[in-house]
Amino acid sequence: MDEKKDIYFKIYRYNPEVDQKPFYDDFKISVERGVTILRAINYIKDHVDSSLSYRFYCQAGICGSCAMRVNGVSKLACTTQVWDELENCKEKDMITIEPLNNFEIIRDMIVDYKPVINKLEKYISWVTPKIKQADLGKKENIISEAEFKVIDAATDCILCAACFSECSMMSANKEYISPLALLKAFRMVKDSRDTRSDERMAVLNQDHGMWDCTHCYRCVEACVKNIPIMDAIQGVRNEAFIRKQNGTEGYKHANAFAQDIRKTGRLKEATIAIRTKGIFGAAGMLPFAIRMTLRGRMPSMFVKTIPGIKHVRNIFRKIK
Ligand code: SF4
Ligand code: SF4
Ligand code: FES
Repeated sequence: MDEKKDIYFKIYRYNPEVDQKPFYDDFKISVERGVTILRAINYIKDHVDSSLSYRFYCQAGICGSCAMRVNGVSKLACTTQVWDELENCKEKDMITIEPLNNFEIIRDMIVDYKPVINKLEKYISWVTPKIKQADLGKKENIISEAEFKVIDAATDCILCAACFSECSMMSANKEYISPLALLKAFRMVKDSRDTRSDERMAVLNQDHGMWDCTHCYRCVEACVKNIPIMDAIQGVRNEAFIRKQNGTEGYKHANAFAQDIRKTGRLKEATIAIRTKGIFGAAGMLPFAIRMTLRGRMPSMFVKTIPGIKHVRNIFRKIK
């Protein structure tokens, strides 16, 4: 006989047309080992409460539409096992189901995906080929195997928005490009068939673009396809260095950081604001600098070179 267990589902509910504010509904169902979160909530919808609302389609981890937060973490409901989630429950055998973070809620677990579409449009997240429109579909438009290897992992993205939901910068600034749009940008910039990379790189270099990522790695941990998103973010930034797109604070900050490490192995914090923002730009930080100095917390202007600096410089040489 199949092993079964009584499991509680604490599910986020909100229908703006009738509810003053969101609330949680509890459902208890008997679930056997091997059942996914999606199948469990389908059972609740089919047998207990037909008003429960969420998206799904392929049921095989391909379409990306069933992303939601399970026990506080953004995941695909169709590839997440109910029994595996029991060890992540705050209350014994009670699994929490909520909509993705960083989106407006339309109803229950259904979120308004429009910000993702807008960002994909803004950062030109498609290939515009050299081939003439009239010739499209008539002959192959290929890239080499070596070229494809560079973008291979990035092409696995299913646009589920789990990374978007977990991104700390997205929570702070809704204008931020987002990890998924950065990943797509990398994939397009490195595609030799594309003709709009100059335009794309110029938009990426603007405010809220590629330089605003805080390197928190939450997108990497959340990615349902294990895509190394940070490598892609670094990839578009490297592209900016190759193209000498040096007009932004982000570029100047990253450059100053790299120069310091190459010279001494340490960051010269006392002057990084001036080197990033310029003297006039950094003037606004003067009161803060004075407070830091009075409290004896201002970093020194003089930085000692670390003992292993030869090794660090070798790394820089190799990267070049
Ligand atoms: S590493 Fe950057 S893109 Fe990824 S979650 Fe953190 S801030 Fe967002
Ligand atoms: S990068 Fe990963 S988590 Fe983000 S949308 Fe693509 S597949 Fe989903
Ligand atoms: S239903 Fe398509 S990824 Fe889950």
